[in-house]
Amino acid sequence: MKVAAIVGSIRKDSYNLKLAQFIKKRYSEKFDLEILSLRLPFYDQDIENNPPEEVLKFKSQVADADAVLWVTPEYNGTIPGVLGNAIDWLSRVDRVVNGKPSWIVGASMGTLGTVKAQLHLREILFSFGLSSPLLPGNEVYVGAVHEKFDEAGNLTHEPTIQFLDSVVDNFLKWFNHNNR
Ligand code: FNR
Repeated sequence: MKVAAIVGSIRKDSYNLKLAQFIKKRYSEKFDLEILSLRLPFYDQDIENNPPEEVLKFKSQVADADAVLWVTPEYNGTIPGVLGNAIDWLSRVDRVVNGKPSWIVGASMGTLGTVKAQLHLREILFSFGLSSPLLPGNEVYVGAVHEKFDEAGNLTHEPTIQFLDSVVDNFLKWFNHNNR
């Protein structure tokens, strides 16, 4: 099973990227997680039918995946611009996310762990252009994230790891149930 990880932070030391890398490694026997680059040009309706190479590659990686994992930071109480930009590209022309099962995780330094960003993201994914069926429940808010990773960038917070184990199991059950 192939899962595309869409990580809403492009900085090299991103905790959300580290979270995606942790998920890739820990569940490598359950699915193959491909972490996609969101270093994309700004969405522009004038070129949406003939987009730049990076966008074509990004869209084909999403199209090739069986499912999508959204990994979102929270910027000013909502999703970061780079994630919104990627979503705008995905929502148009071939709409490659349409019907693709997905689930959301997110990490922030604040105590609420991206609650606001994820609420917005859930609403956005229901919109016509996306229509991405989301795993019900199983909301993963990793707050105070800077206290949960060690110096080497590994997630070490055991309750978070155990919770992720259960969410991944729930996702796979839900995915298999809907794709019988
Ligand atoms: C933040 N941060 C933040 N945190 C939060 O819990 N709620 C918020 O609304 C915001 N807003 C915000 C805006 C901007 C512009 C920045 C740069 C940061 C802090 C944020 O959680 C922290 O920087 C994370 O480390 C960002 O995620 P990555 O890049 O580490 O994945």
